[in-house]
Amino acid sequence: MRLDASVAAVVTGGASGLGAATARLLREAGVRVALFDTDAARGEALAAEIDALFVRVDVTSQASVEQGFAAARAAHAQERILVNCAGILAGARTASRRRDEAGAIDGAVRPFPIDLFERVVSVNLVGTFRCLALSAAGMLTNAPDAGGERGVVVNTASVAAEEGQIGQAAYAASKGGIVALSVPVARDLAAEGVRINAILPGVFETPLLASAPQAARAALAAAVPFPQRTGRPEEFASLVLEICRNSYLNAAAIRLDGALRMPPR
Ligand SMILES: NC(=O)c1ccc[n+]([C@@H]2O[C@H](COP(=O)([O-])OP(=O)(O)OC[C@H]3O[C@@H](n4cnc5c(N)ncnc54)[C@H](O)[C@@H]3O)[C@@H](O)[C@H]2O)c1
Repeated sequence: MRLDASVAAVVTGGASGLGAATARLLREAGVRVALFDTDAARGEALAAEIDALFVRVDVTSQASVEQGFAAARAAHAQERILVNCAGILAGARTASRRRDEAGAIDGAVRPFPIDLFERVVSVNLVGTFRCLALSAAGMLTNAPDAGGERGVVVNTASVAAEEGQIGQAAYAASKGGIVALSVPVARDLAAEGVRINAILPGVFETPLLASAPQAARAALAAAVPFPQRTGRPEEFASLVLEICRNSYLNAAAIRLDGALRMPPR
C-alpha cells in the first residue's frame, strides 16, 4: 500500500508508547491519523503536536469503538490502515501462597483472580478483535487500490505469546490469541483485499514497561543478545510502516526482539 495523504489510519492505544511512535511515523508519511485511547490528556496533546485527531475510545466498549470509527471517518475518510496497540500488562501466579502484610507466608493459598484474567483478555484480545472487525467492515467499502488492496490491519501481540513469564498466564493467553486469529482473519478477508499481520515485540522502552520493577527491566534489557538494550518505539513504528507498504506480508507473526527469548522470570 502506498502511504500518502490520501490514506487514513486509526491507531488504538495511540496516546502512548508504541502506538504514539507509530502515529508519528504515519503522520511523517503524510497519512491522516486518528488516535483512539482512554487517556485523553496524552492523546489530545499528541494529536495537537502531530496534527492528528484524538477520539476518546475504550476498546472494551462496542458503543465507544463504534463512535470512535464514526468520528474518525467523518473527519478523515474510511481508514485503510488499523494499528491495534491498546493493551495492558497485569498478572498473578496461577496459584500462589498468600503472604501477610509483613511478607511472611501465612499458609493459605490463592488462585489467580479470575476478574483480572477477564480484564486482561477483554482489553488485549477482545478489544483488538472488536476494533479489527468493525474496521474491516468499513474497509470493505473502500475501492481497491492498483494492487487490489482495500486495507491492512497490524495487531500488537508480544513475545509472551510464545514465552510467557511467571505470572503472565492471562497476558500470554491474550497475546497468543492475537497471533492465532491472524490466519483465519486473513483467510476471511483475502477475497476483499484486506491483510492482517501481528508484531510480537520483545522489551520496549514505554510507559507500560515502566510499570514493571526496575530490577526486572534491567535484567530483561541485559538478556537481549543484540543489540543489548531495550527496543525503541520508533523501531516498532518502522516495522508497522513496512507491513503497511509491503503487500506480500499477510498473516505473518513477526518477532521484533533483538533475539531475546524470555526467561521464566
Ligand atoms: N512495551 C513493551 O515492552 C511491550 C512488549 C510487548 C508487547 N507490548 C504491547 O504493545 C502494546 C502497546 O504497549 P506500550 O508499551 O506502548 O504501552 P503504553 O502503556 O505506553 O500504551 C498503551 C496505551 O493503551 C491505552 N489503553 C489501555 N487500555 C485501553 C482501553 N481499554 N481502550 C483504549 N486504550 C487503552 C493506554 O491508555 C495507553 O495509552 C500493548 O498491547 C502491549 O501489550 C509492549
